[in-house]
Amino acid sequence: MPLTATQGDMERDAPFYQPVGHECDLFERAFRQRLPLLLKGPTGCGKTRFVSHMAARLGRPLFTVSCHDDLTAADLTGRYLLQGGETRWVDGPLTRAVREGGICYLDEVVEARKDVTVVLHPLTDDRRLLPLERTGELLQAPDGFMLVVSYNPGYQHILKSLKPSTRQRFVAMTFNFPPPELERDIVARESGLSREKCAALVNLAIRLREMKGQDLEEGVSTRLLVYCATLIATGMPILEATRATLVEPLTDDEDVQQGLLEAINATFG
Ligand SMILES: Nc1ncnc2c1ncn2[C@@H]1O[C@H](COP(=O)(O)OP(=O)(O)OP(=O)(O)O)[C@@H](O)[C@H]1O
Ligand SMILES: [Mg+2]
Repeated sequence: MPLTATQGDMERDAPFYQPVGHECDLFERAFRQRLPLLLKGPTGCGKTRFVSHMAARLGRPLFTVSCHDDLTAADLTGRYLLQGGETRWVDGPLTRAVREGGICYLDEVVEARKDVTVVLHPLTDDRRLLPLERTGELLQAPDGFMLVVSYNPGYQHILKSLKPSTRQRFVAMTFNFPPPELERDIVARESGLSREKCAALVNLAIRLREMKGQDLEEGVSTRLLVYCATLIATGMPILEATRATLVEPLTDDEDVQQGLLEAINATFG
């Protein structure tokens, strides 16, 4: 066994990610040029999987934070904690990523409190600095550090979009559901269900996605298709599995559910 992992080993061990376009290339170029990256796209379309795949491929540790409206700058940078009668500084995930030269991934970044952007600004321009006021340190991010943020533009409040001065600090790309053949391969690989059956599920998803907007906030995600195929692969009847994964999670509205069920029945009934 070699002591250090080769590029081949790292790619083999990386979580499975099926590229849809040139996203791996863009990620790698941004990483090498020390540029931060912004991913936009609907829920369950592969953003998180993509980031973990790229982190493994590039051999960088990954620090993922799911942002929420109580998340403060200190949650990212760190704080003094009382430990065994002593106060000790404990690095937050962003500070750890900077110190260790890793990738910090802030999921749903628009949810975070305003003071978070204050921390991100000096890190996302060419200074690449993280000031830690509480410890008096000023950290210079090493080459291995990268900041990746993502959000879903679909259901954002107008008040909860990123300010231009924040968004214009990132290289950005939009994710969407993969083209049918690729989505079939992803669902088959993730669930173990045959490609033929997965192709039928993907065709159904395309029909259900056409109902987005009129009645539904978001179209059925690749994630839900994987759930559906996983249940069918265990032997569950298709109509039961589709109801539990492609209808119930999408809406509480009975009329809308009925519309979805009709589309499902037309395909599989
Ligand atoms: N291109 C892809 N390659 C491999 N798996 C994928 C791909 N796209 C979607 N998936 C599958 O879909 C699931 C959901 O993807 P993921 O968790 O990355 O979504 P997301 O975009 O981060 O969603 P959210 O915005 O809700 O966090 C994954 O666990 C994986 O099974
Ligand atoms: Mg995610």
